[in-house]
Amino acid sequence: MLVSGGNSQIIRINDFDKMEIIGQTIDDAAGEAFDKCAKVMGLPYPGGPVVDKLAKQGDADKFKFNKPRIANYDYSFSGLKTSFLYFLRDELKKDADFIEKNKEDLCASLQKTIVDILMDKLRLAAKDTQINEIAVAGGVSANSGLRNAFVDHAQKFGWNIHIPKFAYTTDNAAMVAITGYYKFLENDFCDKSVVPYARTSI
Ligand code: KG4
Repeated sequence: MLVSGGNSQIIRINDFDKMEIIGQTIDDAAGEAFDKCAKVMGLPYPGGPVVDKLAKQGDADKFKFNKPRIANYDYSFSGLKTSFLYFLRDELKKDADFIEKNKEDLCASLQKTIVDILMDKLRLAAKDTQINEIAVAGGVSANSGLRNAFVDHAQKFGWNIHIPKFAYTTDNAAMVAITGYYKFLENDFCDKSVVPYARTSI
């Protein structure tokens, strides 16, 4: 079973030609949640790696953010983004330096919430399907909180985990780049009427 970036999906892989998306985000992807919340804090894009770095010095239990209640194995991150925004807006009214003073704790708490949302669903899917070969891929697989959660779950639930080496966590960007390179070499260009799309089925 694979948790992938991009669309934040849980994919059940029975065989190489039998992949089935059993859960996915109904709005934002996990990476978008990192990036959008980071933007609200005034952190540079992409916010994911910056949040990860700051989170290492913060208290993950300092702030609590709501986790969504979504049926089955689907995710949602847009509610978290909104509650994070409103929380900061309220705190900034009381103290204009709130973000600066609490940057590390905000990042740690936010990261913990995102990782918990992902792991709660993955744990449920693993339990229901009785699959214990679990992999993670995509940009968010670089996140140290998520990587640690995978290791914890492996120990606790006997999962056999497959986590890419850090250098391979931006595989999507590399795949898009190499595809573009070969298309360029073959003079395979499209005209300007083509509309880009960020999501596709497998
Ligand atoms: O969604 P994704 O798999 O798509 C592509 O590879 O194009 O990966 C991109 C996302 C971005 O949102 C970025 O912020 C996030 O991966 N990302 C991270 C980390 N490194 C990259 N998110 C959290 N922690 C990181 N260390």
